[in-house]
Amino acid sequence: MALVWGLMATPAVALTNGLALKPPMGWNTWYKFLGNYNEMVLRQTADALVTNGLAAAGYEYLNLDDCWFAGRDAQGRLLADPAKFPSGIQSTIDYVHGRGLKFGLYLCAANCGYCSAYTPVGHETNDAIELAGWGVDFVKIDSANQRESVISQFQAAFAATGRPIVISLSDAYYESWMPRLANTWRISADEEVESWSSVMRVLDNDNACAGAAGPGHWNDADMLQIGILNLMSDTEYKSHFGLWCLIASPLLLGCDVRSIDPAMQAILTAPEVIAINQDPAGIQGTRISSSPGQGGNLEVWCKPLGYDGCHKAVALFNRGTNTANVSVNWTNVLLRPGPASVRDLWTRTDLGVFTNGYTASVAPHQAVLVEIVGTSLISVPRITSLENLGTKIVVRGTNGSTNAQVNLLSSSDPQKPLPLWTIVATNQCDRNGSFCLTNRIEPQPQRSFFRVRFP
Ligand code: GLA
Repeated sequence: MALVWGLMATPAVALTNGLALKPPMGWNTWYKFLGNYNEMVLRQTADALVTNGLAAAGYEYLNLDDCWFAGRDAQGRLLADPAKFPSGIQSTIDYVHGRGLKFGLYLCAANCGYCSAYTPVGHETNDAIELAGWGVDFVKIDSANQRESVISQFQAAFAATGRPIVISLSDAYYESWMPRLANTWRISADEEVESWSSVMRVLDNDNACAGAAGPGHWNDADMLQIGILNLMSDTEYKSHFGLWCLIASPLLLGCDVRSIDPAMQAILTAPEVIAINQDPAGIQGTRISSSPGQGGNLEVWCKPLGYDGCHKAVALFNRGTNTANVSVNWTNVLLRPGPASVRDLWTRTDLGVFTNGYTASVAPHQAVLVEIVGTSLISVPRITSLENLGTKIVVRGTNGSTNAQVNLLSSSDPQKPLPLWTIVATNQCDRNGSFCLTNRIEPQPQRSFFRVRFP
């Protein structure tokens, strides 16, 4: 009998530390400030995130990158730089929390980084306890080419604190063990600040790892190069932002949000564009075609939205230097030929109902971003909701036919061949063909990934 796998495009539907079920959104010091910040800058940034609407749009993490560290005390405890934090780092963290935001901090897994906030082997547990005690909610670990065995020490140490802390690895590449140990991981080397070609390089690297992403575990395409030095055009900013949303990257602002202008603000808070990034199904969008005839410059990208196979976010993207028509056919995005509605996600306007496909005139470096709602080409048994309740996962869906058995499978390794996953729950579909599967989930370090198998 043929097996149909839920969410076939993704390696897994859930990860069980319960964190980062959607790509994390926030702000990071690095690209704008390097080491040139202090507690006042951070407090003003926390204020700005709240007052200028960015927090309400979803940017909840205020992440302090490198250069906060000034060595260790006699007991080996981490010390924040007193020149930058005259009131102590704790008071800044408390201030950030007081504004309703979460706080992130940078560590290095080896003697690396610009200013070396460095955790030597054997210090992972103490450093994790110290950060958890400060109230850190997100840790960026510069992996410094450390292997799985070293990073697993950090993961276990942070899990053992009992505090929910998102783990974000920072290295220049993806490796298959990373989804087991981290909520996000970088997939490329640092960007050149506001360089279009560098943005394109990261996008291509990210596309190559698309299968690794899913709720709780994301490819990190690095901080947004928007409004840092104002070197790129507004068209490029919108394309960069829209594509980062489509590839389900964490959205971490790199600019000085204290002095953001209204045009930038409108880009960074565009609600329907952010919504594709934050879609609960968490399927990373990918490039589905490029045009050899145009030097490969005209591309179509697609991110399936939700679980029903009918909603697609599509980018019609022109990397070239001349305006050109870019088309998507419904069948390319797994929709049936015939009518489907098209909505512009930037202007938030319905463009109409189109038959079999849609074509837009696309300016150089523009990515037209639309949502297409049609009829799924695949007659889907489908997942309709997925909840992670902290202690258990609940998956509901419909099989399309009644009285059939649906299985929930689990594995600690998302790359494991599917026949080797363990059945952890079964449910007989009811007379409507609906099912509900539940399974207890383990706290870290026993992280699990799930798939649904239909009959
Ligand atoms: C690496 C990372 C950057 C930043 C710096 C800090 O280069 O990729 O994002 O964290 O380290 O030194």
